Amino acid sequence: MERLLGSAGGRSSLLALLVFLTLQLRLGSGACPCREPELCKPISGSRDFEVLVFDIGGSNWKYYNWTHITTVAIFGKYDPELMCYAHSRGARVVLKGDVAVTKIVDPAFRAAWINQQVELAKRQYMDGINIDIEQEVAKSSPEYYALTALVKETTDAFHKEIPGSQVTFDIAWCPDCVDKRCYNYTGIAESCDFVFVMSYDEQSQVWSDCIARANAPFNQTIAGYEQYIRMGIDPYKIVMGVPWYGYDYTCLSLTKDHICSIAKVPFRGAPCSDAAGRQVPYKGIMSQEKSSFTGILWNDEYEAPFLEYKAPNGIFHQVWFDDPRSISLKAAYVTERGLRGIGMWNGDCLDYSGGYVAQEQTEAMWEALTPD
Ligand SMILES: *[C@@H]1O[C@H](CO)[C@@H](O)[C@H](O)[C@H]1NC(C)=O
Ligand SMILES: *[C@@H]1O[C@H](CO)[C@@H](O)[C@H](O)[C@H]1NC(C)=O
Ligand SMILES: *[C@@H]1O[C@H](CO)[C@@H](O)[C@H](O)[C@H]1NC(C)=O
Repeated sequence: MERLLGSAGGRSSLLALLVFLTLQLRLGSGACPCREPELCKPISGSRDFEVLVFDIGGSNWKYYNWTHITTVAIFGKYDPELMCYAHSRGARVVLKGDVAVTKIVDPAFRAAWINQQVELAKRQYMDGINIDIEQEVAKSSPEYYALTALVKETTDAFHKEIPGSQVTFDIAWCPDCVDKRCYNYTGIAESCDFVFVMSYDEQSQVWSDCIARANAPFNQTIAGYEQYIRMGIDPYKIVMGVPWYGYDYTCLSLTKDHICSIAKVPFRGAPCSDAAGRQVPYKGIMSQEKSSFTGILWNDEYEAPFLEYKAPNGIFHQVWFDDPRSISLKAAYVTERGLRGIGMWNGDCLDYSGGYVAQEQTEAMWEALTPD
């Protein structure tokens, strides 16, 4: 009897404690962490040209070139200091949104998830959400329709609850169900502020020769945008994503004319993929250049730089990447075609340590985003 009472009593006091803690948490987060309370206000209004940066955590953000930035998507740990600073520079700070597509088929689940995101954004004084769902979806499946609905409902909720907020969605480099991700691209673009086209990992599914190729060849990249625009997506609803990283491939054999054959690693139905390579940030590639026997070369077909080196074990590697020269070409297309802006995966791939050479290289990468 006593034990029973004790147990029930324990449970109700535990409940009281939980309620108390929840309230504390709510109240605690009510205080603006910025020096100026003004900085906790969401950013409203928009600048002509969008520059969206993905931040994956750490404190590199302090050295980003904030003159260019309009939005930072927080894919690492939330840092209130970053939020305060971004707001002081007129830049939006947005959440990362990811949820299992099998679950969003249920409208009640969708509503609860959206509410959770809005509340989290409010609690952290954020300005929207970047939805990054890179899951397989079959055309005309329940998930296909639910995904468009999710984007529409998320946008409506954010715009209503956080005036001036921004809701965006990440899509693959072209609309041909890349990596089995078949989405209603036009419906999604209509339903949010803009789509971010991930013009990289363009060799994730290779059906021809299994050889190393550029991560984001110029022609292939542009063809993707032309397809989206032909489908009816307004260019002003599109932000181009460029890679600040490349792929390091181990060559099974390497010819004098730079054909590097690679291991057959299948991916989502394709026999060969860039999954055979290793992703490397731009800063890593720039330091690799020193031990390269070719130096940085240029491929005219892909309009992309590459280099080759021999590993200590005697095996040849070929590294494909983007640099200010290849990015400027793409950025010029953004301007000419009237796209909404540009962005990169990710802001933390550059060397911000401040050495003379590193600083030059890093500045040039930021400059390449806005050629004019
Ligand atoms: C895509 O979504 C839009 C907006 O919801 C809808 O009008 C259209 O019918 C959808 N298209 C397809 C192919 O499902
Ligand atoms: C890129 O595409 C254009 C138009 O199809 C073509 O004329 C050009 O030769 C291509 N460039 C390269 C380098 O493949
Ligand atoms: C940042 O970009 C602006 C505009 O392009 C440029 O004038 C400035 O020198 C850059 N700042 C740094 C620290 O690189």
